Amino acid sequence: MKRQRLGTVATSAVSVLGLVGMGLVGGLPASAASKVVIEFAASPIANIGLRSHLISMFNSTHPGIEVKLISEPNNTDTYRAQLVTQISSGSTTPDVFMGDVIWPAQFGHAHLALALSRYLPHTFFKRFAPGLVQGASYHGHVYGAPFFMDAGFFYYRKDLLKKANLPVPHTWEQVVSDSKILQSRHLVKYGYVFQGKAYEGLTCDWMEFMTDAGGKVFGPGGKVAIDSPASLKALTFMRSLITSGISPAAETTFQEAQSMNVFMEGQSAFLRNWDYAYSLSQTGKGTKVKGDVGVEPMPTFQGQSWPGYSNIGGWNLYVNPHTRHLKQDLAFIDWMTGVKAQTFMATFGSEIPTNYTVQKSPKVRAQNPVLNIVSKVRLVPRPSGTPAYPKVSSAIYTNINAALAGSVSPAAALKAAAQGILRATHSGL
Ligand code: GLC
Repeated sequence: MKRQRLGTVATSAVSVLGLVGMGLVGGLPASAASKVVIEFAASPIANIGLRSHLISMFNSTHPGIEVKLISEPNNTDTYRAQLVTQISSGSTTPDVFMGDVIWPAQFGHAHLALALSRYLPHTFFKRFAPGLVQGASYHGHVYGAPFFMDAGFFYYRKDLLKKANLPVPHTWEQVVSDSKILQSRHLVKYGYVFQGKAYEGLTCDWMEFMTDAGGKVFGPGGKVAIDSPASLKALTFMRSLITSGISPAAETTFQEAQSMNVFMEGQSAFLRNWDYAYSLSQTGKGTKVKGDVGVEPMPTFQGQSWPGYSNIGGWNLYVNPHTRHLKQDLAFIDWMTGVKAQTFMATFGSEIPTNYTVQKSPKVRAQNPVLNIVSKVRLVPRPSGTPAYPKVSSAIYTNINAALAGSVSPAAALKAAAQGILRATHSGL
């Protein structure tokens, strides 16, 4: 049954290739056919209505296609689980889905996404910033069209630092000492908020602290290396943020939204979040920090060279292998990664564009301080090259979260994480 559907896609792919070759994808004539509806699944982007704006821009310029938004959960794990169930049952919808940058290995391996490189020519992929297409590939095929890039950034309250006459901290040790000063002067309730809940976001934050301390998840020859003195330093530090009251006790339940809310409420001097946090802090509903937010690359531990590591996040556009509308799906992807949509997303939502022309544009960079410092950040990816990544990540975030909550010691948590990762990578995938 599933094979037959894949066969349908493959046949229409020949004509799609022809269209792309002629440069016609993205410009299907309105009269070519009656309107085709395609379903686009996506979680909220930046929480300011970006998805709907983009879709109505596309729909109004492509009379032959109507893109319908299927709104998906914010939590990448929940969203992934839903999609896996839906697509593996053979569902023809969604046609196109926005999916995390960590999915290509899992989705490619399990045939949950179409290998776009079979249907789109080399020239299509040239529009993307260096490294992104490789990140969206698995075993020689490109599974996702890079849609927007995320990276961890360090947000700070300009007004508070000014009041206390403090420069922007460049080390984690300074984040602690500055927080103590600001908190003891009752200028702010908390020093630093980040993502500490047991979910994918904590793996992102962990990659940053661990790499800053000199640690790795996998060492030479792919050996599990997470249980190291460097990791112990990082995890002991993270736990101390909570025990010292620099971070709230509720940190262990924080995803991006909760840490963002504390910061927007004016209750924390510093925040770790993705690129969209800048525009959200300035234009988001009920923000109390308008005009007071600055952004820098991440701090690092004393003795290391600044900046610290920023985890690479972001989202790609994938096609459901069972779609009935490949031609229209590809036209939509072509448009969403083109100059118009990417410029809009960068300027309206402070998302980092994947389209290199847009990413480099001085006009776009001048729009806001996040885009202006993208070239300064030092990136570290998650170890998502294996189809077993969901289990690897879960071994990381479950154990790191337990240590943050104080229910196990940092040393025991790292040992358990190493065992979990070993089990995951030997799970037969
Ligand atoms: C952001 C990133 C994504 C990451 C997620 C974790 O959405 O773009 O890559 O997995 O946060 O919460």
